[in-house]
Amino acid sequence: MKDDVEFDEFCDPSNPRKIHYDDILAASKRIVGAVVKTPCTKAHISDRLGMEIYLKQEFMQYTGCFKERGVRNTLMLLSDEQKRTGVITASTGNHGLSMSYHSQLMGIPCIVAMPVHAPITKISKCQQFGANLLMHGNNIGEAKRYAMGIGKEKKLRYVNGYDHPHVVEGQGTIGIEIIEQVPNVDAVLVPVGGGSLCAGIAVAVKHLKPDVEIYGVQTVKTCSMVESLKKNERTPILIEATIADGLAVNLVGVNTFYNLKGMLDKMVVVKEDWVARAVMHIVEEERFVVEGAAAVSVAAIMAGLFPNLKGKKVVCILSGGNIDTTTLARALERGMAAEGRLVKFKVTVSDRPGGMAEMCGLLANLGVCLRDCIPERAWVKGDIFSCELKIIAETRGWDHTKELVETIKKYYKDCFFHESAEKSDKGPGARRGPCLAPNPICMQK
Ligand SMILES: Cc1ncc(COP(=O)(O)O)c(C=O)c1O
Repeated sequence: MKDDVEFDEFCDPSNPRKIHYDDILAASKRIVGAVVKTPCTKAHISDRLGMEIYLKQEFMQYTGCFKERGVRNTLMLLSDEQKRTGVITASTGNHGLSMSYHSQLMGIPCIVAMPVHAPITKISKCQQFGANLLMHGNNIGEAKRYAMGIGKEKKLRYVNGYDHPHVVEGQGTIGIEIIEQVPNVDAVLVPVGGGSLCAGIAVAVKHLKPDVEIYGVQTVKTCSMVESLKKNERTPILIEATIADGLAVNLVGVNTFYNLKGMLDKMVVVKEDWVARAVMHIVEEERFVVEGAAAVSVAAIMAGLFPNLKGKKVVCILSGGNIDTTTLARALERGMAAEGRLVKFKVTVSDRPGGMAEMCGLLANLGVCLRDCIPERAWVKGDIFSCELKIIAETRGWDHTKELVETIKKYYKDCFFHESAEKSDKGPGARRGPCLAPNPICMQK
């Protein structure tokens, strides 16, 4: 086992490390001044979602993610000799960014291995922070094996970004800050990838206030911790493309699993459509730009997965803000469509002068904005002087969409609305969009 290229003495399945509050407290003193003590303020969405929601703004770290806490703590605890030789890691992005940035600040040589499909923002930011970047493998597992091989060959300390005990202790400093900033908190909702964020926060919060509930959140495409807790052993899952790329870890950590087992109150799994909607609401209502992984807690509340927290004080960790502009644009479009604010329909109008203008006039009178309009003539049956328009329009929401559907149907006999627009007819239940999932809560207690 010890000869295996992937053996890591700090993350050894036959010797999992218990994380202690005292080490988290020591980490919080060690990293002070080198990482940002982020604000944790009341969210505008609180009233609408029926709970007092506080947002811990970890995207305000210099590299845009909480990972700096664990990295700084780990680098500071290296021996002088190891600081000279250097460190290596594998990362889908944020941990790599933090390693690049803090190792450069501390003058420690650092190599970061990333899977070839890592998000563009994260690749270019890593380069910007001066990392020696190696692109290898189709997933984090392959990049990690490669990095560990190089680490052993060159005597570089491999720093596991979600399982090294000093990393977990560093992330736990968020828990100490939460209790200081929201002393009467009832529950903390934490995004879970490999588990360091959740394990660190759980140990710190449960030590300071044992009654505070800790919930882990994953998406349907990243539910490695849920599967592992269900089977009571670390269970690998297949990871597909996900909006929450920061959570895309196919096998959870040895230490994180060991510490979270029995301590976590529940894991919930949220559909990715809700994550897109949460990203949009966080932009619109809070004026914060966050990445998918960071929006999963708010998404889970929006999806109705926490009826038990109505009226309670809840902290959501907005863990990072590194989202590609294209991914952000897609999330906003998906979010708008899911909330009835983007409507797709076809309508056949007269192809004589004024025919299209008449249709546009109807939209203008309703205050509906025309986003796209493609005329099609060749495949229209019947009247040779008619034209089919494929339209995408922007409305103010379901009620406005309903008004649009009724008006178009009143004036044109040949029209067809995309299924989601017709949902505006079906009462409040349907207004929650296409991802009203059965409650997939996985109870751990
Ligand atoms: C933005 C963001 N949120 C949450 C997580 C999950 O953290 P962990 O892997 O410690 O569970 C990550 C991991 O990289 C992340 O980048």
